[in-house]
Amino acid sequence: MAERIIIEGGVPLRGEVPVSGAKNAALPLMAASLLVPGKLVLENVPDLRDVQTMGRLLQYLGATCEGKGTLVVNSSDVTGWEAPYDLVKTMRASILVLGPLLARFGRAKVSQPGGCAIGARPINRHLSGLEALGANVRLEHGYVIAEADRLVGAEVVFEAPTVTGTENLIMAAVLAEGETTLVNTAREPEIVDLANALNAMGAKISGAGTGVITVQGVTSLTPVTYSVLPDRIEAGTYLIAAGVTGGTIKVVGCVPSHLRAVIDRLEKAGLHIQEGNDWVQASGSDGIRAVDVRTDPYPGFPTDMQAQFMVLMALSTGLSTITETIFEQRFMHVPELCRMGADITLSERKAVVRGVQRLSGAPVMATDLRASASLVLAGLGVENGITEISRVYHLDRGYDDLDEKLSSIGAKIWRAGG
Ligand code: EPU
Repeated sequence: MAERIIIEGGVPLRGEVPVSGAKNAALPLMAASLLVPGKLVLENVPDLRDVQTMGRLLQYLGATCEGKGTLVVNSSDVTGWEAPYDLVKTMRASILVLGPLLARFGRAKVSQPGGCAIGARPINRHLSGLEALGANVRLEHGYVIAEADRLVGAEVVFEAPTVTGTENLIMAAVLAEGETTLVNTAREPEIVDLANALNAMGAKISGAGTGVITVQGVTSLTPVTYSVLPDRIEAGTYLIAAGVTGGTIKVVGCVPSHLRAVIDRLEKAGLHIQEGNDWVQASGSDGIRAVDVRTDPYPGFPTDMQAQFMVLMALSTGLSTITETIFEQRFMHVPELCRMGADITLSERKAVVRGVQRLSGAPVMATDLRASASLVLAGLGVENGITEISRVYHLDRGYDDLDEKLSSIGAKIWRAGG
């Protein structure tokens, strides 16, 4: 029988949880290794299925990728320029090799990612950006094929911010001839991390973290050792665990400023928050207050925290509205949460959540990464009863040591089957 996570809820969680490196920073940094021949050393890399998939993709292209926690990637002998369907279909972030392959080798062939459980997720903004830098881009047999002798700097105006699109364009522009200006870029901390790493390698990128990024092309980069930034979504997920279980959790090794929008909503919901330079502590309260939330690009409330926050609201004392503006279908967790006793109604991009006194344990199915995290939180918040979550591979794509970290602060969580 396939592996399941089983949770016996009702235990107020108490203690410290260390945060791992950010998945969404580690993946672009691994892709960036394709820009620089030699040994790139990445520290604080989370041990996740997506990281393993990106490692397999780099190896498929001819790089070596060794280690766990600290990854040593060497792309000196890369000759491949094709990201095949089998790897891209298991992880959309594979699209991140498009920019670097094109920049270093003048050509790239990457399977088109297609839709996924949270929406259609087109890549048109990545492609028109690369075209603006002089690439010839065509779509053939389900693949994107991009070619350019050498990319040439230009102004790229994104019609709306895209995280991996901004990252792809930064990586394409670092080795381009002349200056590239990227306008209306995403401002996520993971983009700043990528720019910092590339600048340490000799790139000339300024403005990362703002809506306008300038890249002065250079002819080559030098490999460095770089430590991946802490995962703000993992941190936020544990803070909510304190809220739903009525416990106190100190999340250590995080960057509190990256969690500002989340902390703000948690405080409004009545959680008691304390923070230091690199830690945040949340304590649950008896009556969770209902708070409206709308997801937005950073520094707004992250879509990657929407499902988890909904669990807190499901246990609130009032009525809240959760609006998802980033992905059109990111509500797959709603029917599962309702099977656990939540009272949530959906209309287009809005979920109306009427708080209930308690959730009840049930067999539920994970549908995507953050939806799975919400089911774990709901399972922890069940006062009395067992929750059994199937399709847990979604969780293993993005949460490093989830079961161990939760067990260490008192959760009754274990795996069966598999
Ligand atoms: N979009 C387009 N055209 C494009 C690119 C994006 O229409 O060319 C749309 C998307 O469909 C979406 C919106 O723009 O509606 C924003 O998407 P974005 O491109 O910013 O998302 P992404 O880069 O594909 C990253 C994260 C996601 C996270 C989003 C939003 C990585 C590897 N993935 O995806 O992370 O939800 O940004 O913050 O960085 C997760 O970790 O669970 C996850 C899904």
